[in-house]
Amino acid sequence: MPLVTTTEMFKKAYEGKYAIGAFNVNNMEIVQGITEAAADLHSPVILQASAGARKYAKPEYLKHLVEAAVELYPEIPIALHLDHGADFETCKSCIDGGFTSVMIDGSKYAYDENVALTKKVVEYAHAHGVVVEAELGKLAGIEDDVQVAAHEASYTRPEEVEDFVSRTGVDSLAIAIGTSHGAYKFTPEQCTRNADGILVPPELRFDILDEVAKRLPSFPIVLHGASSVLPKYTKVINANGGKMPDAVGIPEDQLRHAASLAVCKINIDSDLRLGMTAGIRKHFVEHPDHFDPRQYVGEGRQNIYDIVSNKIKNVLGSENKA
Ligand code: G3H
Ligand code: 13P
Ligand code: ZN
Repeated sequence: MPLVTTTEMFKKAYEGKYAIGAFNVNNMEIVQGITEAAADLHSPVILQASAGARKYAKPEYLKHLVEAAVELYPEIPIALHLDHGADFETCKSCIDGGFTSVMIDGSKYAYDENVALTKKVVEYAHAHGVVVEAELGKLAGIEDDVQVAAHEASYTRPEEVEDFVSRTGVDSLAIAIGTSHGAYKFTPEQCTRNADGILVPPELRFDILDEVAKRLPSFPIVLHGASSVLPKYTKVINANGGKMPDAVGIPEDQLRHAASLAVCKINIDSDLRLGMTAGIRKHFVEHPDHFDPRQYVGEGRQNIYDIVSNKIKNVLGSENKA
């Protein structure tokens, strides 16, 4: 099947109490690792490209890499999504360039400006058969060139969501309930430590998610900043010359719970970065004589395959939902 929008995916995910993984893509091996895992597990998948990804790989490469995956795996639904579109022009360029979904991220603006910008993108997107994700509330962390300090972050205000969705006509909504971008989602001071010395972050605000879901029945909710930053990979990085002390993510069981509620799309980038980095670092240390990129990048790609497989089976619940 050709690239699809997320409409049907989200409807089934909402009813089936699971979520679709939205994985960031930046190069060929990342596209391959994600889509091979999704195809092997018969799972729908969203491939998303940020402004940084489009700058790094060039939109033409990204588009054709994704088209290659669509050609190889026609049996699974694949959507191509713009992650964190900063303005109307970027969204328009992706809509014109064959993306099936775009995010307009107006979370940095005042409420009314966010409404106006989102509405403008929705009008253009819907006229071209493309769906739109918007954001209310502000996540902490680092996304592209924007850094949001924890004290500047703000939870989504449930009392705003009905007005926002009805005035903009948006198709899905990203909300802030305590997730955060990057591999250092919480400071050690914000966490407790378990018996093994591993940082345990504060619980997500499921009360806010519940209130949003009550106000927007059957409406798909999106979680950004949802990597789990598994010690399995940070340990390999640190044991092979890396330095990522106290990296901490969102526990898998909380994401699984969110997926069983109104959350239909879960964004994952940092975990893929960690997998690629762990694979390459380990390979270099174990094989100092190797100089063929297919060997060390291939080990990173295998980690991405393993990480996405684990997400689909144990976190998203999207196995056999294609
Ligand atoms: O939310 C941000 C994603 O992780 C994309 O990161 O802008 O560095 O490509 P990036
Ligand atoms: P992570 O940094 O937690 O992977 O979040 C990615 C994301 O939200 C992309 O939009
Ligand atoms: Zn994000």
